[in-house]
Amino acid sequence: MTILITAGPTVEAIDPVRYLTNRSSGKMGYALAEAAATMGHRVILVSGPTQLDVPDGVDFIPVESADDMYEAVANWIKKADIAIMAAAVADYKMAQVAEQKIKKSADQDTLTLQLVKTRDILGSARQQMNFTGTLIGFAAETEKLITNARNKLQRKNCDLIVANDVSRADIGFHADDNEIVLVSEQGEEPLAKASKEHLAHVILEKAIQLATK
Ligand code: PMT
Repeated sequence: MTILITAGPTVEAIDPVRYLTNRSSGKMGYALAEAAATMGHRVILVSGPTQLDVPDGVDFIPVESADDMYEAVANWIKKADIAIMAAAVADYKMAQVAEQKIKKSADQDTLTLQLVKTRDILGSARQQMNFTGTLIGFAAETEKLITNARNKLQRKNCDLIVANDVSRADIGFHADDNEIVLVSEQGEEPLAKASKEHLAHVILEKAIQLATK
């Protein structure tokens, strides 16, 4: 099968020297890419900037901003049987990126940046990108994990949501381990804390089961 995976953070420019980003290391997405390639699938990895080595044997599409990631996914998702969106995409970007470095004001103690919503890549996969394959999203939550994940499952027309609690330091963002709940129409499957590599294999087995049912 061909599996498209998004990973890592996005980077949204403020001015030529500053940006908005988040704590995603890319570990979860890269573990999925590595596991899928090891299982013999063709992997398209669309990734924001990370410190990680690109797994052997994957087609690597590096991107920076949420807009770049949207365009890359829109372009490549046509080839995919399964799409798994593990990236932490910025929900907001600058309304207008400043052309020159924003100078510190001598007489104002506060600075207000005007942000606008980015496009939802996962939420656009079905209608705007006409994706008919198996669609898997993540839900990074600090409260109401299952309720919020279930909302995302429906709102974004997914077959599966991988829910993780990102309020804990030992799992989620940047950690080597994760603890997840697989949320689908069939119900909820909680998985105990384990390495991202191990959980990547479990997520992929579930994805392939959904894709071949
Ligand atoms: O990279 P690591 O350090 O290993 O950390 C892993 C992780 C915590 C980043 C990962 O497990 C995870 O939860 N990824 C999703 C992060 C996220 O942005 O979740 P969300 O609940 O805000 O978004 C829901 C889904 O919509 C996600 O699949 C996201 O990729 C997608 N999305 C969000 C916004 C947007 N503009 N476009 C999107 O496609």
